[in-house]
Amino acid sequence: MAPGVQFTLFQLLLTLFLILDLVKKGGAGITSTFTRSQWQSFDIPLDNKVFAIPTGYNAPQQVRITQGDYDGKAVIISWVTADEPGPSKVQYGTSEKKYDLSADGKVTNYTFYNYKSGYIHHCLVDGLEYETKYYYKIGLSASSREFWFQTPPKIDPDSPFTFGIIGDLGQTYNSLSTLEHYMQSGGQTVLFVGDLSYADRYQYNDVGIRWDSWGRFTERSTAYQPWIWSAGNHEIEYMPDVGEVIPFKSYLHRYSTPYLASRSNNPLWYAIRRASAHIIVLSSYSPHVKYTPQWQWLRDELKRVDRKKTPWLIVVMHVPIYNSNQAHFMEGESIRVVFERWFVHYRVDFIFAGHVHAYERSYRISNIRYNVSSGDRYPVPDRSAPVYVTVGDGGNQEGLAGRFWDPQPEYSAFREASYGHSTLEIKNRTHSFLHWHRNDDGQRVPADSVVFLNRHWASNLRRRKLKKNHLKARGEINF
Ligand SMILES: [Fe+2]
Repeated sequence: MAPGVQFTLFQLLLTLFLILDLVKKGGAGITSTFTRSQWQSFDIPLDNKVFAIPTGYNAPQQVRITQGDYDGKAVIISWVTADEPGPSKVQYGTSEKKYDLSADGKVTNYTFYNYKSGYIHHCLVDGLEYETKYYYKIGLSASSREFWFQTPPKIDPDSPFTFGIIGDLGQTYNSLSTLEHYMQSGGQTVLFVGDLSYADRYQYNDVGIRWDSWGRFTERSTAYQPWIWSAGNHEIEYMPDVGEVIPFKSYLHRYSTPYLASRSNNPLWYAIRRASAHIIVLSSYSPHVKYTPQWQWLRDELKRVDRKKTPWLIVVMHVPIYNSNQAHFMEGESIRVVFERWFVHYRVDFIFAGHVHAYERSYRISNIRYNVSSGDRYPVPDRSAPVYVTVGDGGNQEGLAGRFWDPQPEYSAFREASYGHSTLEIKNRTHSFLHWHRNDDGQRVPADSVVFLNRHWASNLRRRKLKKNHLKARGEINF
């Protein structure tokens, strides 16, 4: 298709979205009466093929990748071998079956009650080229397995990129439906907003066994594209009754994050830059009040954000700050009190959270004027504030959170208790599309779709300058 035709189509689509958005904003928020629960909320039995163990002695299983550095030129590849450690080596290259490069990783394991984990491998593969398809191979001879992934475009303010947002996934038939729908969405990288396996709903050795099954269940996506991990309350696993008191023990052994690359001292909070986005991952269940390591790190990381290079500033955490569901209501308040001021000051575009098992999107609002003396306690519309999106509707065994506060608060733009996932399609430095897909819809009919203007580049002055520069440089209009 000629670039001009493509551009006109894009403009037409954009206009339609903007009109729809204006219509929606004309009144109060929308509470969708549609409630969709496709399957009953119980975990898929362990002998189901979705948890199948790969054939061959000591064959690598639970294969997953995540970004391995600050800027997207590295991945961490992780997997588990059940019988013996075996090599922690990844062979890789840019042609299928031709692996001229290799990297060595490390192996770890742990115990949980009487459960002994398999051998968990984490291998950093770095020095990659942008926008390149890499093939990789792990394991030995007949038991070896091969996968591929695509590196992101270079860090650039106009690099388009599509993130998927999935939360509270678990391992039910609803979880499988979410995963399968996401895999058809065109998402290039998942921002996972916490609560992975729900293994902590089990007892004794079954906790570890359900972590393993979840790793095999999600491999169909995690082996082929990075999932950016954040921890939820189901990762804490503080179980003194069985002598397990180290928080996040299973999660931290199994899921690697590139926290050192963003100068964090803890894998539970960190940042990455990918295409045109700066992603900040926070830990809702780690200390965050003033002077704690997470507080200090976030203060410094926000100063490092360069909106000229990465215009889209996104925060990922488990607990929502603005959500009007009766489930877990106001559990994010301790974080809001400490961090909301920064989110507004730095004009964060989106805050993605999970925890509440429903979808909800807020308007841009803030409540930073309140203090214990002023009494000015209601959230107000604020153009500098983020949009808060809750996507805790992955489909775990706890079921949906169907009871919203009534009437719908003014800060709530759209809410619905169905299983699903979101995608954030970043088009350029000024425009992105946020979609929410409930599981029973085809990909062409997202249940909630909104166009967002970037918080940094959306001011009239900046947009005018940008338009002028683009016209000059490229002889075309580019928003
Ligand atoms: Fe949760």
